[in-house]
Amino acid sequence: MQTITHDFKYAEWQYQVMMNRLPANGFPKNYVAGKDSLATTGSEWWCSGFYPGTLLYLYQQTKDTKLLIEANRALDMLVKEQYNKTTHDLGFMMYCSFGNAMTIAPKPAYREILINSAKSLASRFDPKVGCIKSWDSNKPEYLVIIDNMMNLELLFWATRTTGDSSFYKIAVTHANTTLKNHFRSDYSSYHVINYNPQTGIVQKKRTQQGYSDESAWARGQAWGLYGYTVMYRETKDKKYLEQARRIAHFILTNPNLPTDKIPYWDFNAPNIPNAMRDASAAAVLASGLLELCRYTDSKTGQLFFSTAETIIHNLSKPAYLAVKGTNGGFILLHSVGSLPQGTEIDVPLTYTDYYFIEALGRYKKFSR
Ligand code: GLY
Repeated sequence: MQTITHDFKYAEWQYQVMMNRLPANGFPKNYVAGKDSLATTGSEWWCSGFYPGTLLYLYQQTKDTKLLIEANRALDMLVKEQYNKTTHDLGFMMYCSFGNAMTIAPKPAYREILINSAKSLASRFDPKVGCIKSWDSNKPEYLVIIDNMMNLELLFWATRTTGDSSFYKIAVTHANTTLKNHFRSDYSSYHVINYNPQTGIVQKKRTQQGYSDESAWARGQAWGLYGYTVMYRETKDKKYLEQARRIAHFILTNPNLPTDKIPYWDFNAPNIPNAMRDASAAAVLASGLLELCRYTDSKTGQLFFSTAETIIHNLSKPAYLAVKGTNGGFILLHSVGSLPQGTEIDVPLTYTDYYFIEALGRYKKFSR
């Protein structure tokens, strides 16, 4: 618990460093230490919600109003994305931000913003395929990635608040289609499923950010675990719990999961044990396990809890936790955005910090 208290205080400090560096219209993206360069983006980028989301989580812990004021400034810049129909990432963008705000520092306007966001996300659903489209394409293909499981939570919220079950049904259909097509017999997942847009038949199973089409990209496995855990929370359908448990089993029994439980960027990376680690996969995994452990029998739950604890403990050591005042204000070092594309390799990332802080909050809550 000492670690958790220290980490929150430290994170609050770091995010003040970050907010003092940010340009007026920018959301933090990553930081390159050699160049002392804090990369930022506009609100349309898939990660724009994580900055206000992290600030709100930290405000919840510290009650420091500077964090809330900055979160509100970032939320104001994000509002227009509620009408963005060109991305499947609206769950990440809007639910991690305005969704957190609804819980932590609510305002009536947030409800409308979230409902409009859910409508925009739902507009990308095609019943022929049974999925929300992840990426637009000019070719005859309908692309769905495992990451998309993370965007469904917004739809459940929308049904709860409006009473309109169509959002719920879309989320369930998407999760069922993904369950059928995205997973291998060992419960690892493909990154991208390419469906025929006319028939909904699978045309190809491949990767984009992983090592190879048949490899298990680490963050993708963590997205799947977290996503099916949310599916179980929201529906109480045991098949989703079973799926989350099986994904957890794949990850935790994998011979390529290091003893410190910080995954390599891909479970099948060719140069293990010298492959790069991915703190983002570790942070998402820790947070997901801290929810999943509550739904499982005590022995399995204890394993999930202690694995998350190990991850938090190791991410809180100097190997991963940046020296105070450095790292552009980001908390954690050593994440991998996309190695095949050569982007964001071994850098801090905004979503790594978000899921780390979420995991700390869950850990604190459950270990009381
Ligand atoms: N959702 C994009 C990524 O995980 O890199």
